[in-house]
Formats: sequence, C-alpha cells, structure tokens
Amino acid sequence: MSKNILITYATYTGSAQIVAEQISANLSNKEFKTTVMPMTEVKDLSGFDAVIAGSAIHGGMWLPEAFDFLESHKEKLNSKPFAAFLVCMTMAMKNSEKYLQFVSDFMIPVRKIVPPVSEGLFAGRLEIKKVQSLTDKIKFRISIATGVMKEGDHISSTEILRWSDSLSHLL
Ligand SMILES: Cc1cc2nc3c(=O)[nH]c(=O)nc-3n(C[C@H](O)[C@H](O)[C@H](O)COP(=O)(O)O)c2cc1C
Repeated sequence: MSKNILITYATYTGSAQIVAEQISANLSNKEFKTTVMPMTEVKDLSGFDAVIAGSAIHGGMWLPEAFDFLESHKEKLNSKPFAAFLVCMTMAMKNSEKYLQFVSDFMIPVRKIVPPVSEGLFAGRLEIKKVQSLTDKIKFRISIATGVMKEGDHISSTEILRWSDSLSHLL
C-alpha cells in the first residue's frame, strides 16, 4: 500500500508553498500519496506515515507558526519519519555553497525539537513590495544595490527534485 505523506509549509510570500508543491508532485510520481497544506491548518498527524515540513526563513529562523506546529505535534513527529526544509535568500546568493554551514545552522532549533531524517536548504524569492516593514525593505534594497542579493524568483526545481528523490528511501 502506498505511504501517506503530509507536506506542510509556513510561508510569508509563497515560496515555501511552491517548494512543498514541487516536492509533492515528485513524490506522487513515485507512488506516495501526498497531502499539501499550511502548517496552521494541520490538526492531526495520525493518518500520515511521514511528514515533510518547511518554512521561509526570517532573521535566521523558521517562521513562528512553524515552531508552533513543531511544538504542538512534537510527540507524533518524533514517532515517524520527519524531513525538514527551509527557503531563504542566502541560498540565492552568489557562491551560496560557501554559506551552506551557515544556512544549515538555521535548522539547529528545529533539530532540538524534532530531529529530521534529512534537511533541504533551498533558495526562495524576494519581492520587496511584499515586505511589510520599512526597515526590512531598506535592508533588502541595500543588499540589492550592493550586489549581495537579486530581487526575484530563485527557486530551483532541480534542487527540489534532487532532494525529494533522496527522500524516497527515508520516508
Ligand atoms: C522580514 C524578512 C526577513 C528575512 N530574513 C532572512 C534571513 O535571515 N536569511 C535569509 O537567507 N533570508 C531571509 N529572508 C528572505 C526569505 O527567507 C526569502 O525571501 C524566502 O524565499 C521567503 O519565503 P516565502 O516566500 O515562503 O515567505 C527574509 C525575508 C524577509 C521578508
């Protein structure tokens, strides 16, 4: 019987949802049954054999609702295969491979609550008009002006496919 996988996300501007949907599309092709939903809507994990959860990164952390999800469901999450991903702009920077350890450390607080069987670190997208705080808008404009970041969509379907392929035998 095919395994039932929950793929759940926390997002601010939509990239984590896109990543979740691409993971789902790939795993459905491998005969997993997948459900994609925002973390804020997850009520009960009993019907799922494994969970993949991912969040946008703000200030080097998963979003607060993603930690609420982990805390609310930690017993069940610790009893089944759990894989985690993050979406951030550091992974979209030039020579992002230099920052892999730095980005991987964004997962330390997640690991302390539920250790993932695997972690996906993905580039996201930046749309300054969707950033609410003026201070954050200015910070991003400076990063763009100095060439540190580029506005726009940096989601790599190839990287998402590679990671989700690697999950098949872990879930
Ligand atoms: C307020 C704010 C803070 C952010 N902080 C970080 C950060 O600390 N590190 C980073 O690499 N990206 C950071 N980003 C970039 C987001 O992680 C990136 O745009 C991601 O794709 C957003 O995902 P979402 O579209 O699912 O919300 C930040 C974005 C915003 C708006």
